[in-house]
Amino acid sequence: MDDKKIIFSGIQPTGCITLGNYVGALKNWVDLQHDYHCLFSVVDLHSITVRQDPKLLRKRCMEFLTQYLAAGIDGEENIVYFQSHVPGHAELGWILNCYTYMGELNRMTQFKDKSAKHADNINAGLFTYPVLMAADILLYQTDLVPVGVDQKQHLELARDIAGRFNGIYGDVFKVPEAFIPKEGARIMSLQDPTSKMSKSDPNVNGFISILDDTDTIMRKFKKAVTDSDGLIAYSDDKPGIKNLINIYSAITHKTPDEVVAEFDGMGYGQFKTAVGEVVSDELRPIRERYEDLSKNKDYITKIYTQGAQRAAGMARRTLNKVKRKVGYVDGVL
Ligand code: TRP
Repeated sequence: MDDKKIIFSGIQPTGCITLGNYVGALKNWVDLQHDYHCLFSVVDLHSITVRQDPKLLRKRCMEFLTQYLAAGIDGEENIVYFQSHVPGHAELGWILNCYTYMGELNRMTQFKDKSAKHADNINAGLFTYPVLMAADILLYQTDLVPVGVDQKQHLELARDIAGRFNGIYGDVFKVPEAFIPKEGARIMSLQDPTSKMSKSDPNVNGFISILDDTDTIMRKFKKAVTDSDGLIAYSDDKPGIKNLINIYSAITHKTPDEVVAEFDGMGYGQFKTAVGEVVSDELRPIRERYEDLSKNKDYITKIYTQGAQRAAGMARRTLNKVKRKVGYVDGVL
């Protein structure tokens, strides 16, 4: 292989791909894809930590993968695939479970949040989910993991597990680095700007799906919760306006200060319209490509089949090494 570094990232096929996922992950993947060897996975194994309807899940998995491509990921150059198609994820996940402490998993804030939210289904998978995520990453000797800031704790754990394993057995895993976009890219709910924009928000006005049409986008931005002082300023006391500035800034690549200067003296209504317009201009081509690609099932199948084949080859190399180090007898498969 050449000396390009390896990137792994994934989005869980739950809800829809939001503007938050787009700014925090997908858009960066598109920017990085030519400079690295990239694996972009629809991490479907992760999604069943919360109960899913099988028909809907299958449909959503296809939609997510298609949206990766529609957003501009080149599926020939990069490895685009479903996590469940490569058995190495679950295999390495099990092994790493035995090198992870209950205490470490207990500290994971996402586990605490999710178990509070799904109190009737606090399953073992929800608890060990960060270990599967570590396996996803370590399986490919990943250098860099572009994720939103909410995944930082999981990534630290992956690094700790890799370090621990290497400490016992010698250099088996590459210790990965997080690639986290700047503060400006943390996109909050349009209805409650103090919490993250969530794809599972029951209030659809809280998030923008990257497939929302222009009318829907404009309507959601018009309804966005702000405050009553009428001043466009970048301040933690004004989370609603700050979030709109961050969105505008992420899409236009202007700094928050430049955005504030641009809208100086204007009203919230005008500002919301401007934000809605840049977002819908950004998402329109994605939606159009998505509509075309969805008609081309053979092409999609080809992409995820060759993706899984290539990923499985890379995974096999790491797993063979891991198994030998742990002390298993060489297998026949
Ligand atoms: N846990 C991530 C999330 O909820 C998704 C994910 C699973 C992931 N495995 C990964 C992200 C590996 C990056 C790398 O957003």
